[in-house]
Amino acid sequence: MAVIAEKTSSRRDFLYLATGAVGAAGVGAAVWPLLDQMNPDRSTIASGVPIEVNLAPIAEGQIISIFWRGKPIFIRHRTAQEIAAEEATRLSDLMDPQADADRVKAGKAQWLVVYASCTHLGCIPLGKQGDWGGWFCPCHGSQYDASGRVRHGPAELNLPIPPYAFVDDKTIRIGEA
Ligand code: FES
Repeated sequence: MAVIAEKTSSRRDFLYLATGAVGAAGVGAAVWPLLDQMNPDRSTIASGVPIEVNLAPIAEGQIISIFWRGKPIFIRHRTAQEIAAEEATRLSDLMDPQADADRVKAGKAQWLVVYASCTHLGCIPLGKQGDWGGWFCPCHGSQYDASGRVRHGPAELNLPIPPYAFVDDKTIRIGEA
């Protein structure tokens, strides 16, 4: 069962940590303050300008969620096993065929950045759940793999990828392609 720990300060609507099946709420709690310190203030978020996110505190296997322009975004630090599984998936097995390599930045396959809204009716899916270990949407049962590709309906489309770019190895800027 996924656990979502909400922040209680004035910036509570910006960032929350989805520990999902990482299985260690304690890990999430420990990482939280680090993430919080790295992120922009409320006025920056509200302005909709690009934001930078420090990836360094996100452990392998962990998923965090941030809000940008009022929309939730998942950042997933994928394991080697998850990457191998997604790269090996045949396009013919996919409902919305797209290669894993086309959903991550070259040389950065460990980082998946996707909008966190189910493409059916917009619920926020739960990380590391479902038959493909990606996300499970509790509203009507859609499932996604660890590439954010839809594997079971009623959703028909993959989780979209927001515009983002790597500033350096451990920093992304969301809002710029
Ligand atoms: S909103 Fe996700 S399955 Fe309907």
